[in-house]
Amino acid sequence: MSAAQQKVALITGVSGGLGEAMAEVFKEKGFRVIGACRSEPAIELDRWFKTDITRENACRELLAGVREEFGRLDVLINNSGKGNYATWEEFSEVEVRDLFELNFFALVNMTRTFLPLLQESQGTVINIASVAGLTYVPCMGPYCATKYAVCAFSDTLRAEVKGYGIRVLNVAPGRINTTGFSKRALGRRTPPDTPDGGSNPPGLACHVYRAYQRGRRSVLYPRIYIFFLWFTRSFPRTYDWAARKLWKL
Ligand SMILES: NC(=O)c1ccc[n+]([C@@H]2O[C@H](COP(=O)([O-])OP(=O)(O)OC[C@H]3O[C@@H](n4cnc5c(N)ncnc54)[C@H](OP(=O)(O)O)[C@@H]3O)[C@@H](O)[C@H]2O)c1
Repeated sequence: MSAAQQKVALITGVSGGLGEAMAEVFKEKGFRVIGACRSEPAIELDRWFKTDITRENACRELLAGVREEFGRLDVLINNSGKGNYATWEEFSEVEVRDLFELNFFALVNMTRTFLPLLQESQGTVINIASVAGLTYVPCMGPYCATKYAVCAFSDTLRAEVKGYGIRVLNVAPGRINTTGFSKRALGRRTPPDTPDGGSNPPGLACHVYRAYQRGRRSVLYPRIYIFFLWFTRSFPRTYDWAARKLWKL
């Protein structure tokens, strides 16, 4: 297969954590992988664009680069994001806007900018949302709000772009131990020591790839979080009580 025929994936936030793991898997599966983030990734990629995706024009510059150097895009993975560990009261308006800039507006801008290229390839948009976008987690309120917005974006976009042959996969990871997430999270509270259900970045990456191949609409990983969702929706008062204890509110 010539390089021009090889599929191309663009992944934001490949300098660690889930982005790095997904880059590894897509590379293994024969994709040419492009990364976009601010610090240099440890893994070898076909191309790394050093960029802050929240910057004005960042998405347009990326599009120009990808068009010129690769001429196609088959998969866009919107992965860059950060969390927060603080109550609404402790969190400033600037911090709320900061989270929305990265987790939501940059993701929307990236997607809208790359839609024409994805239309040409009948490609796929993969949005990394969170279980915190499917149910609420006290002391992570602004983060939840951004991820609920991502889920709404994925669901509405999916229906809108179906006619172009573009697919949209919404990914909701539960807790996964990546060193970056806690380090980058805004706010001073310490999250409770909850079990991670055996989840890990390579496991999530393999799940995402399988779901992509099968044309799935969404991924929940690890699956055990289905019980967490059921519990929070069925017994919200008990959940609130437990969350208040765990977060020492
Ligand atoms: N880990 C979890 O438990 C978990 C659970 C659910 C959902 N998620 C979601 O999964 C995604 C990845 O999380 P992670 O745990 O892998 O976090 P991470 O290790 O902190 O990685 C975050 C990535 O985002 C990039 N990034 C941050 N600000 C950026 C900016 N302005 N422009 C471009 N890239 C930027 C970082 O790269 P640079 O700093 O080099 O720019 C980094 O590569 C996030 O959207 C997160 O919300 C994570």
